[in-house]
Amino acid sequence: MSRAAETASSLARERRELKQAQEQQLLDAIPKNLNRPWQDPMSDNKERSLAAELRGVGLPGYEVPEWKQQAEGQNASFGIVSTKSMKEQRESLPIFKLKNQLLKAFAENQILIVIGETGSGKTTQMTQYLAEMGYAKKGIIGCTQPRRVAAVSVAKRVAEEYGCRVGQEVGYTIRFEDCTGPETRLKYMTDGMLMREYLMDGDLKRYSAIMLDEAHERTIHTDVLFSLLKKLLKRRRDLRLIVTSATLDADKFSKYFYECPIFTIPGRSFPVEILYTKEPETDYLDASLVTVMQIHINEPAGDILLFLTGQEEIDTACEVLYQRMKKLRPKPSELIILPAYGSLPSEMQSKIFEPAPPGARKLVVATNIAEASITLDGVYYVVDPGYAKQNVYNPKLGMDSLVVVPISQASARQRAGRAGRTGPGKCFRLYTELAFKTEMLPTSVPELQRTNLGSVVLQLKAMGINDLLNFDFMDPPPAQTMIAAMENLYALGALDEEGLLTKMGRKMAEFPLDPVLAKTLISSVELGCAREVLTVVAMLSVENVFYRPKEKQAQADQKKARFHQPEGDHMTLLAVYEAWENSRYSKPWCYENFVQARSIGRARDIRKQLLGIMDRHRMPIESCGKKFQAIQMAIASGFFTHTAKRDPQEGYRTIEGQPVFIHPGSALFNRNPEWVIYHELVLTTKEYMRNVMLVQPKWLTEVAPNFFKTSDPRQLSKRKRKEKIEPLTDRFNPPNAWRLSRRQPRRG
Ligand code: CDP
Ligand code: MG
Repeated sequence: MSRAAETASSLARERRELKQAQEQQLLDAIPKNLNRPWQDPMSDNKERSLAAELRGVGLPGYEVPEWKQQAEGQNASFGIVSTKSMKEQRESLPIFKLKNQLLKAFAENQILIVIGETGSGKTTQMTQYLAEMGYAKKGIIGCTQPRRVAAVSVAKRVAEEYGCRVGQEVGYTIRFEDCTGPETRLKYMTDGMLMREYLMDGDLKRYSAIMLDEAHERTIHTDVLFSLLKKLLKRRRDLRLIVTSATLDADKFSKYFYECPIFTIPGRSFPVEILYTKEPETDYLDASLVTVMQIHINEPAGDILLFLTGQEEIDTACEVLYQRMKKLRPKPSELIILPAYGSLPSEMQSKIFEPAPPGARKLVVATNIAEASITLDGVYYVVDPGYAKQNVYNPKLGMDSLVVVPISQASARQRAGRAGRTGPGKCFRLYTELAFKTEMLPTSVPELQRTNLGSVVLQLKAMGINDLLNFDFMDPPPAQTMIAAMENLYALGALDEEGLLTKMGRKMAEFPLDPVLAKTLISSVELGCAREVLTVVAMLSVENVFYRPKEKQAQADQKKARFHQPEGDHMTLLAVYEAWENSRYSKPWCYENFVQARSIGRARDIRKQLLGIMDRHRMPIESCGKKFQAIQMAIASGFFTHTAKRDPQEGYRTIEGQPVFIHPGSALFNRNPEWVIYHELVLTTKEYMRNVMLVQPKWLTEVAPNFFKTSDPRQLSKRKRKEKIEPLTDRFNPPNAWRLSRRQPRRG
């Protein structure tokens, strides 16, 4: 070995040793640290760097990370789940003591607001009580949930209690997944699905009772259902409505629903001690992990619930924590780390409900779903960093994006309450008391007031509700958002100049898709490429299909690059799907090609569902073969507002003038065509366009004549003449035609 090499290697060894020593020191320090009041700022820079290092670990895929193996392997040791019989369990719920009064209230009132602690039995029991009263004989008892996961998990639980399989008497319907049958009488579903049913039948004749569950969440669909059902109840005196809510909103809800009575189920909750940090936390993720370790080492038995914002963050946190726990000396008792988020496979999901084996402690790291939608028994400690992910409309981008926002005071209280279900608990808030009082809103802003309304406006128009500005919303959305949505629909050709639904709009409303995707699909029929576009739309509707583990990124990228198409990522998705199809949907093929089998499998399901809808409406499914231009035009007909033009300096600019860049993972990265259409924007280090497709400006004027026009050649600069098109309008400057339709007096 040369001297230089020797020095280098000894240096590296030294560094390694130093790092190990530092880590050990740090880990040794943790138990001691735990003795100080936890409110002390947990800002240990060394801790941070360890977390930073471990952060960004690849997402679990084929090689299941150790912490996940541990979580999954728990099955065997989980032994007896509960010693109580199903009947005993049901009868021990707080709601059971009030069953008779509740049945009486159902019988006497057409509308009832019900409030009660999470876990008191509202969701699982009230539908069954209604069935006992005979409502199942008169029709279906429907129960809406804001979240898909909750609809599925609750239906499974109720089927078990009812003594049937899911899909028989008890079933569920969520988008792209219908698990109900002709016998189904108790139906759990997402609120969006009930709204779709209303679109088919404005009297909801199949239903004898409807429960709008978790109404305080104020999702867009629940808010619209409020108003639709409020009117329907006048027409259908035999229909019963139950609205469950948090205490805070009950009076407001009652006032809205014709001053209906409020039924309260007294909680079975214990006091929860609330602890705040003294200083604001700069890194809530890290602080939350340290807090969890402190609890595990210092506090008596009892499970821990940690709230984080999303899947990636949760997986990372679980990994980091698992590694830290492994290094901890003296070895603490076992901490079983379980993630909980919407897209988790259901086997993993049911684990979070199982009690930890004796001597071990369970930690559930969950998104907002654990705030109220699902109930975990045995939680004594809650760690609340104070954030959640929310869909927010971003007018600058002209689209919704998921952003991490501070939660409301109501949410914080709800989270703390999770610690007091089994006994007196503790809630560790990773924010200051001052922040709680002065920076957090009392309740969350209803979704209706913060997201893109395109889909909802289209559905309301399809229901024949035209005067949206006077629609009886509990809290109306800003008129500006509503008008922006209508302008978009006008540009898509779904509304005419009067703001009335067009034939195209009616067809679009048939699909459980965002209006832009629905438009793309319908255009493809005329363009003779529905076979291919169905695939593209399905592939765009699932989470990432490409698997890119950290250790094998280069290999994964290489495999993916073999599918790259010069037209862009949409065609690449098509190529991947078709190759998988040719392999007869083989799983080994997925492993070989670094494709996520679960995601692409879901794309296949979605494709089938969409095909079913198209068949029902007799839309011919033709293939365009290799004539990709048809596919590009179809996509452009939906996504024309997502056009970006190459910027002479660097990157691209959107129609709104926002600087954006092609995502490094794109098939068009480094190719930089002059005009592109992107599927979505993601903000990481820069504003990236994800799923990018090449487009010709002249196609845009053809497919979106309400939005683009060819510029007048006489008034053009040389440069403009080359580009030949300009936007006719944007969201902020509606077309003249549109102004007319806003019921302004017309001349003549
Ligand atoms: O709706 P609410 O929060 O009032 O309670 P629930 O969801 O009806 O839950 C009542 C009880 O059913 C919980 O305490 C759990 O023990 C049980 N449950 C379950 O085991 N599995 C589920 N997926 C949902 C509820
Ligand atoms: Mg519930």
